[in-house]
Amino acid sequence: DRCIAIVLAAGKGKRMGSETQKQYLLLKGKPMIYYSLDTFQKCELIDEIILVAGAGDEEYCQREIVEKYRFSKVVSVIPGGRERYHSVANGLHAITACDYVFIHDGARPFLTRDIIERSYVSVKKYQACVVGMRVKDTIKVVDSQSFAVDTPDRSALWLIQTPQVFSYDLIRKAYDLLLEQGDEACVTDDAMVAELLLGTKVRLVEGSYQNIKVTTPEDLKIAEVFCPQA
Ligand code: CTP
Ligand code: MG
Repeated sequence: DRCIAIVLAAGKGKRMGSETQKQYLLLKGKPMIYYSLDTFQKCELIDEIILVAGAGDEEYCQREIVEKYRFSKVVSVIPGGRERYHSVANGLHAITACDYVFIHDGARPFLTRDIIERSYVSVKKYQACVVGMRVKDTIKVVDSQSFAVDTPDRSALWLIQTPQVFSYDLIRKAYDLLLEQGDEACVTDDAMVAELLLGTKVRLVEGSYQNIKVTTPEDLKIAEVFCPQA
């Protein structure tokens, strides 16, 4: 099978609030985005990588990330869009043909080979799967006045991570429909696009509690602890 990874690095990192965009912040001396690219690069299930950078940052990424660290699987660095789903759509449109696509947040540096392998097995069986973990905390639904209105059964709740992995034809169709329809406001992950537009049944695959998304300054401290290399 031909598998392509789309690595997203076109966000602005507003919640991090750092001067340098979070995907380029250094963790043990290497930019955050290095780590997931390295994992995809070293995993032989993955044939090619498409890196989605902020519009205008493509050359910087090509030089300072792709060439500097010799990521030979990165076949193109393309510009992202305003929202995450625009960036994903751009990535999908940069692909002509493949069997499976692994959509991954560049802000999740601690992807592992195991996670890629588990999701590959699952996508072959179910065509659509996302990595996640069971929640450890109780989750409440609240109203606009911050009053609890519901406490969903915790055993049925998972935190969703990436990669989110799909048959290419399926997710391409779902995103094309989404953009045609133009009602994208509530889209927060890729599985949702397939669920809403195509009614796809998306299978959950176990990720890892270390596969965090580095979002706010305190996440950076946790990331330093989880970071694999010196
Ligand atoms: N992303 C992207 N294009 C966008 C928005 C987000 O490629 N228009 C990517 C980010 O670079 C990140 C991933 O999607 O790797 C998850 O997004 P998030 O954690 O929300 O990152 P940011 O959007 O950069 O952060 P914030 O929402 O705090 O601004
Ligand atoms: Mg964001």
